[in-house]
Amino acid sequence: MSASAHSTAHSHSPVPEQPEEESRRDFLILATGAVSAVGVAGAAWPFIRSWSPSADVLSQATTEVDISALGKGQMITVPWQGKPVFILHRTDEQIASAKKGDAEKLPDPAKDAERAQKPEYLVLLAICTHLGCVPQPIGTGNYGGFLCPCHGSHYDTSGRIRQGPAPKNLEVPFYAFKDDKTLVIGKAVG
Ligand code: FES
Repeated sequence: MSASAHSTAHSHSPVPEQPEEESRRDFLILATGAVSAVGVAGAAWPFIRSWSPSADVLSQATTEVDISALGKGQMITVPWQGKPVFILHRTDEQIASAKKGDAEKLPDPAKDAERAQKPEYLVLLAICTHLGCVPQPIGTGNYGGFLCPCHGSHYDTSGRIRQGPAPKNLEVPFYAFKDDKTLVIGKAVG
């Protein structure tokens, strides 16, 4: 709407000898156009809002995390879309233990390399696949990974289920490394 009002203004402005009467009429048309453009924008807003996710939802779709201060062996829990996510900077021993697990008989078979984009970092949805408790941090349970205390599910250093009632490995959310220091969890919408 504003684009058409703009072009009308330009088509008339180079004619200085235009009669006063006519320019006043042009001004009135332009002014009316501007008012109706505002009116349309105002009316369209509620519809646009119902088509698109709100700004709040969009900002929650991804979570950007600075991992530069996360030392080897340290883990942080960050919220993503209302759920806890573990980010672990694995030690060489934890990586070696996860690789060793690749060769073992697993309830929910998966290679560590399929779960960790970079061996140093493990990113997991911290929700037990049994009944949804939050497992304890790294270094717990019989496999040096994560123990879910609710009913005793033991996950290894790749977040794979090894013992207990949980049927599946801890889920790996969609994530990407924006750069060496920044991890982005989730997918941008739109
Ligand atoms: S909820 Fe984790 S073992 Fe039951």
